[in-house]
Amino acid sequence: MARIFAHRGMSAIAPENTLAAIGQCADYGVTWFEADVDIIADGTVVVIHDSHLDRTTNRTGSIYDLQASDLENIDTGSWFSQEFAGEGLPTLAQLVELMNEKKLNGNIEIKSNEQGTERTYQLIDAVIAELEKLDDDREVLISSFNQLLLAELKRRAPHLRLGVLFSKEALGYDWRSIVELVGADAIHVNEDGLTREMVQIARSAGVEINVWTVNSRARANELINWGVDGVITDEAHTFIELESGR
Ligand code: G3P
Ligand code: MG
Repeated sequence: MARIFAHRGMSAIAPENTLAAIGQCADYGVTWFEADVDIIADGTVVVIHDSHLDRTTNRTGSIYDLQASDLENIDTGSWFSQEFAGEGLPTLAQLVELMNEKKLNGNIEIKSNEQGTERTYQLIDAVIAELEKLDDDREVLISSFNQLLLAELKRRAPHLRLGVLFSKEALGYDWRSIVELVGADAIHVNEDGLTREMVQIARSAGVEINVWTVNSRARANELINWGVDGVITDEAHTFIELESGR
C-alpha cells in the first residue's frame, strides 16, 4: 500500500506547516504528513519551511533571532486566508502533542540549519528529545537534504528511521553509497525526471522510495503503479483514495 504524505500538512487548503494544516489531515483520513523544522535562538524547535519569516507570516526577519515567547504573536495564517488569522508559529513540541492526539504519523524534515555545527547539533538533539514524547503507536520518519546532519542523527539515535532527500537529479549515480553511509532506510526523490527504471532499482535494493512534490493525480497514480512507497503532495485531501486497499 502506497502512502500519501500531506506536504507541509494540507497545504492546498490551509497555511503550510501550521497546526491547522496538519490537524486537518485527520479530517480527511490522511495519516501521514510532512513538516519542516529548524531551531530558533533559545533552542526551541519550530515548524517552518524558510529560515526567514517573510513569506509565511505577518513578520519579517530571520527565524534564528526568535525566542519561544515570540511565537504565539506571529500570525502564520493571514497570508493564506483570514479564516486562519491568528494561527501561531508552531513548535515541534506542539506538533508532537497533535500527533498523539489525532493519531498522525510524521515525516519530519530537518532543514539544513544555516548557523553552523553547534546549532546543528542542538537541533538534532532537540528533535530527538521531542520525538521521545510520541506515543508508542506513532510512526516517524526523519528526512533532510543535509546528509551529514542525517548521519550524525543516526549516530545519536540509531532507532530513528531516516530518509535522504535528493533534489536536482531524482536519483544520482551515487545514491546507494549515500544511503548506506548515512544509515538511511528511505530515499525521498524529486518527481521531476524520475523514471520507472529508477523506482525498480530502488525497490530491488530494498530501499523505501517516497516521491515529492506530486500534485498531479495522474502522475501520482502512475508513480504508485510503478511501485513507489509514498507520494508527498500538497493535494492530500483529494489523493487519499489513491492509497491502495481503501
Ligand atoms: O520533503 C519533501 C519536500 O518538502 C522537500 O523540499 O523545500 O518543500 O522542504 P521542501
Ligand atoms: Mg519539506
